[in-house]
Amino acid sequence: MEIFRTVAELRRWSRALRCAEKDDGRIGLVPTMGALHQGHSSLIHTARARCAHTVVSIFVNPTQFGPNEDYDRYPRSFESDCALVQAGGADAIFAPSVEEMYPPGAATFIEVAGLGDRLDGASRPGHFRGVATVVAKLLIAGEPDLAFFGQKDAAQVSILRRMITDLRLGVELVVCPIVREADGLALSSRNAYLIADERRQARALSRAVRWVEALAAKGERNAEVLIDAARQIFAAEPLIRVDYIALVDWATLEPVEVAVPGTLFAVAAWVGTTRLIDNAILG
Ligand code: PAJ
Repeated sequence: MEIFRTVAELRRWSRALRCAEKDDGRIGLVPTMGALHQGHSSLIHTARARCAHTVVSIFVNPTQFGPNEDYDRYPRSFESDCALVQAGGADAIFAPSVEEMYPPGAATFIEVAGLGDRLDGASRPGHFRGVATVVAKLLIAGEPDLAFFGQKDAAQVSILRRMITDLRLGVELVVCPIVREADGLALSSRNAYLIADERRQARALSRAVRWVEALAAKGERNAEVLIDAARQIFAAEPLIRVDYIALVDWATLEPVEVAVPGTLFAVAAWVGTTRLIDNAILG
């Protein structure tokens, strides 16, 4: 497995493959911030199944963290990440420095107007500007045919889809299902922050998601009723502070009054000092 530190190395690898291969030698990119877990592994697995060559990027992107957020303490575990990527059968890792991704004086950013200010974008101003910018840089550097993202970050998916369409980047975005712990909690690098009590109460997020899915499956379509049902689940957990509970159109992230198949139900909540998210696409 190769480890690239510079954009030039990644691009050379990708272009060499493209010259050598016929049409079926597709290149897949799995963008991550490291601290890898089975959620990330599932993306690598899907990429391997769909592409002849897979590169995993590991980069804790400073521009998507707010000034009072956890950039400095975000878990970094490069060696075990490399082992997990290798075990997953990927061909290469791209692990650039901050200076490599943001050269001194960097002044170019990508803003997905409207969408970027909804859901997590509303409570984390500038977050999606950082995400869109770094993902655009990764796509331009690696020139993949397919890029793999988790439904876990459903708003991120909407924003990146819009960006890829608007900039005609010519890459196919593949969305992979949410991987969960046995008790339902969605895997997240930030779960490592939770102490025992918080970890127990964090289950409320997936419980709320499952409950709303069940009510919708039984025919309840009124957004207000569904949101209220979720709110009641959180009310029983003293360590949890809800950030948002929303039913939105998955493409535009605009709130809906009536849930239809394909509507995104999304929650974000603080569990102690850790902010967690979860969601479901209603059937
Ligand atoms: P990160 O949080 O490391 O996640 C990398 C990818 O793994 C994302 O597409 C995310 O949705 C997916 N993922 C995380 N947990 C998952 C789970 N439990 N099940 C399925 N997929 C899961 O998302 C980011 O990094 C960054 O914003 C990034 C896109 C890399 C840009 O910096």
